[in-house]
Amino acid sequence: MAITLLQQADTVPRGGAPLIDRYGRHITYLRVSVTDRCDFRCTYCMAEDMQFLPKRDILSFEEIDTIVAAFVARGVKKVRLTGGEPLVRRDIMALVDTIGAHLGAGLDELTLTTNGSQLRRFAGHLAQAGIKRLNVSLDTLDPQRFADITRRGRMADVLAGIEAADAAGLKIKINMVAMRGVNEDEIEPMIRWAHGRGYGLTLIEGMPLGEVGIDRVDTYLPLKQLREDLRRRFTLEPTDHRTGGPARYDRVAETGGLIGFITPMSHNFCESCNRVRLTATGQLYLCLGQEDMVDLRVALREGGAEALDAALDRAMAIKPKGHDFVLDRTHAGPALQRHMNVTGG
Ligand code: 5AD
Ligand code: SF4
Repeated sequence: MAITLLQQADTVPRGGAPLIDRYGRHITYLRVSVTDRCDFRCTYCMAEDMQFLPKRDILSFEEIDTIVAAFVARGVKKVRLTGGEPLVRRDIMALVDTIGAHLGAGLDELTLTTNGSQLRRFAGHLAQAGIKRLNVSLDTLDPQRFADITRRGRMADVLAGIEAADAAGLKIKINMVAMRGVNEDEIEPMIRWAHGRGYGLTLIEGMPLGEVGIDRVDTYLPLKQLREDLRRRFTLEPTDHRTGGPARYDRVAETGGLIGFITPMSHNFCESCNRVRLTATGQLYLCLGQEDMVDLRVALREGGAEALDAALDRAMAIKPKGHDFVLDRTHAGPALQRHMNVTGG
């Protein structure tokens, strides 16, 4: 479908025109998955024996930068590098430097989502490249549970990585996928641990993306309910703090820290969606929970910069209104076959 759209596309570039979709939403945030590979196999994200995308289909750094530059020229202000695990891609710091060079030249913020396993090594370089904030995924503070959830990760590596990032002056937000019967008993300890160190904490509802290793219905923990439960133990003060993503934040009076809630299942935040997602192989997905996409790799490789720009306009014409995840016994399978590591978190 993407190819047909490109053939019909007007090839005259409209460089500079803002990216606005059919519903009037301005697209100012691009998430870039630099690899679908990861050194972990988190039970809610991947199957144990994941098949990864063929290496020959992966965008080169030059292609990624051309695409980022096209978005920045059209008004994108924030770029997040993600994966899979972005720090396992070979020579990733070269890409961080290249994209970092757009900062102050149209781009306001470059950030990264990481599992933290390689962070100890790279934290200093990330800070030097102009990254100021990081999201680190950490679902538990128990080493054995950590090994069980990630299937192959070492919690000590991640904690050392977080410390290195903190020491390098990066602001840290911990992402925790909240799961009933898995880590719900750790939410309160995690609040105290993260806030005690000056880190933010964001809780995420598990989404039905791809066949994985856990029962999504059994482990689904509605965060709306959880927030009500937390209010019995903490004073939660709603804030209008926003970081450009879908999280809604409260300040916890007792700790002084922020707690965010990302509720794709129990609440639809699509009305204010400002983001699109580039996969490691160059498909631009317009919604995390839908199949609609435009193939930017085909556009770039076959038609160059002009076709790429036209493809961005096509993308705006097909960005869906929103996702609509349903999760119950009759819909226990994934809403999409595409795993989170392909589209990027
Ligand atoms: N549902 C919700 N969150 C997920 N993540 C990965 N897969 C899923 C899923 N199916 C999380 C990761 C990371 C963030 C980018 O997304 O744990 O913190
Ligand atoms: Fe890797 Fe992140 Fe998926 Fe875990 S959630 S397997 S760390 S990409």
